[in-house]
Amino acid sequence: MIRPAGGEDETTAMAQVTVFGGTGYLGREVVRQLAQAGTRRIRIAVRHPVPAGAAVGDDRIETVEADVTRPGSVRRALEGSDGAVNAVSLYLPTRTVGFEDIHVTGARNVASAAREVGAALVHVSGVGADAGSSQRYIRARGQGEQAVRAAHAGAVLVRPTVLFSAQGGLVEQVLRVLRRTRVFPLFGRGETRLQPVHRSDVARAIVELLGRNDVDECECGGPEVKPYRAFVEQIAAAAGIALHPLPVPFPAWHAVALLTERLPGAPLTRDQVALMRADKIAADGLTTLGIAPRSLDTALRGLSGTSPARG
Ligand SMILES: NC(=O)c1ccc[n+]([C@@H]2O[C@H](COP(=O)([O-])OP(=O)(O)OC[C@H]3O[C@@H](n4cnc5c(N)ncnc54)[C@H](OP(=O)(O)O)[C@@H]3O)[C@@H](O)[C@H]2O)c1
Repeated sequence: MIRPAGGEDETTAMAQVTVFGGTGYLGREVVRQLAQAGTRRIRIAVRHPVPAGAAVGDDRIETVEADVTRPGSVRRALEGSDGAVNAVSLYLPTRTVGFEDIHVTGARNVASAAREVGAALVHVSGVGADAGSSQRYIRARGQGEQAVRAAHAGAVLVRPTVLFSAQGGLVEQVLRVLRRTRVFPLFGRGETRLQPVHRSDVARAIVELLGRNDVDECECGGPEVKPYRAFVEQIAAAAGIALHPLPVPFPAWHAVALLTERLPGAPLTRDQVALMRADKIAADGLTTLGIAPRSLDTALRGLSGTSPARG
């Protein structure tokens, strides 16, 4: 779905865009496509100082230090920008940083500062964000959307489903397990329905939506809706790896997560288990923007032969 905001349909050329989360999986592609689209200056807001001489390879791209939990640094990163993208993420809370810090407070900080400097904003959230959810992650994403709306009335919310590309996202997550173990433990019977979307298609939507005042939200999904298990089978087949799926009931996953989520690196959390319980299906925002979403198959071409087949 793409929800019109009731304004004029117009795209404004951006002179300077600041990308928060521009070093991340989606943010890197947003930066690449902003450059390709001719944006005159692109600022990647980074948490850690970039070593001197770390070449980005394009003199229109610069890095600036900012942490979304620190409003002053966010304001400085946005100085002089007419566009902003928030593609910051936190999947595993730490002792010092929780979901609310990044997805609610951080999102509000970016939205408030963007409004103050007069920058258009695309805020990346996720399909299923729900401020009333009992799950911490899903609730924080929903509350974050509300905070962004309250702080910046013109912000565009982009809600992707699970992302993929040839080298990353869903493809990488599945291959990592397939290459490590002979059995592939499924969440339940693998029946949760997903609609994976190519990272580049979402990045393109973000670039298109920056500065549009006729749209206030856009859900982004791929062309296929299938059970999770079917996507795992498709990726295994493309990589030439024999799949031995093992259905594991959700209560068992929940129990494992209870034990492991406090370990360093938290291999599994209850929030992740909860996310895998709910279907992730998007309304049709991409085609409304004139973007034909790519299928998973397009990213899997060339995968075959990269790993030895296993019995
Ligand atoms: N990946 C998916 O399948 C998927 C699906 C649906 C929605 N989304 C949404 O898409 C967005 C991007 O996700 P992603 O998968 O690309 O995330 P990611 O690869 O984990 O990248 C996260 C980015 O956030 C930055 N960051 C983290 N904490 C920060 C802070 N306090 N201040 C400033 N920057 C901070 C990281 O910077 P450092 O380099 O400093 O770590 C990194 O650039 C998120 O909103 C996510 O929820 C992703």
